[in-house]
Amino acid sequence: CADKPSESMTPDPIRIGVTLYRQSDTFISLLASDLLDCAKARETQDNVKITLNILDGTGNQGTQNEQVDRFLAQGYDAICVNEVDRTAASVIIDKARAADIPVIFFNREPVEEDMQRWDRAYYVGAIASESGVLQGRIVSNLFNQNPELVDRNGDGKIQYVMLEGEPGHQDAAIRTEYSIKTVTGAGISVEKLANDTANWQRAQASAKMGQWLKDEEIGPRIEVVFSNNDDMALGAIDAYRAAGIEDLPVIVGIDATPPAREAIKEGTLTGTVLNDAKGQAEAIFELAYALSTGWDVKEAVPRLEGQYVWLPHRTITIGNVMQEFDD
Ligand code: BGC
Ligand code: CA
Repeated sequence: CADKPSESMTPDPIRIGVTLYRQSDTFISLLASDLLDCAKARETQDNVKITLNILDGTGNQGTQNEQVDRFLAQGYDAICVNEVDRTAASVIIDKARAADIPVIFFNREPVEEDMQRWDRAYYVGAIASESGVLQGRIVSNLFNQNPELVDRNGDGKIQYVMLEGEPGHQDAAIRTEYSIKTVTGAGISVEKLANDTANWQRAQASAKMGQWLKDEEIGPRIEVVFSNNDDMALGAIDAYRAAGIEDLPVIVGIDATPPAREAIKEGTLTGTVLNDAKGQAEAIFELAYALSTGWDVKEAVPRLEGQYVWLPHRTITIGNVMQEFDD
């Protein structure tokens, strides 16, 4: 029944199933707790019961497929999927379609051909190239305003290392490409000293960075550490600390997680780019809720363009971190 619940009857609870690629991911766990907040707020506002069942895919696509199967078998109203393997969407879309249960993907974007299999498949995310451009701009602006803060050896070039997210994730390759393109596009030459994946993870980034710091051809020459996300940028800072190096190079991340905001205030992280977990959670939840209740999706989520919702990024540095967040 798709009727708007009225005061006089007690409607069945709305059931929304969510599966995360890996719950321990910092950004994803923030987004998940924002989703719970959205559901609570809606329950109070509309006087409805909402069951938001959030499961951990534990980095295993097989596990996640089983979780989706269970949601579908139990007749959930909508499912939200943060895919382990973003190229595996077609299986999920076909099953959801057969069960006629709408599916909202988020953060890990399915390929377009898969999205075209069903018009009740949606994606909520942020444009990867935009985050890369804004990250690159933090560095190019700093270089143009204060070249000596960046170009320590004074050769007119930026010597850098790149910490990359998971291979195959749209945000990894695209952020890497656009951050550097933005710097070179501003007329600044660069020299890559090293790059590698640390799979979005702080500990892996710290280990990788520790190896680079020990290498005499790399460590002492690093002027900028570009990181595809904040957790890995914080891992780089951990490695400098562990190596007893206090004079840090320019280090930039993406996400603006609470610990990254702290690091900006303390002066160890130069800047980051807000990946709006709260805005994405709101869009995911409102879309799921509208699809569950039969309300107009475009009205519920004005940012919806076809099957896509894109949330904008914002640059965060010491210049605005206090104003942007009240922590
Ligand atoms: C975030 C990362 C996160 C990844 C997970 C990215 O958009 O920036 O911090 O680990 O998504 O899929
Ligand atoms: Ca230089």
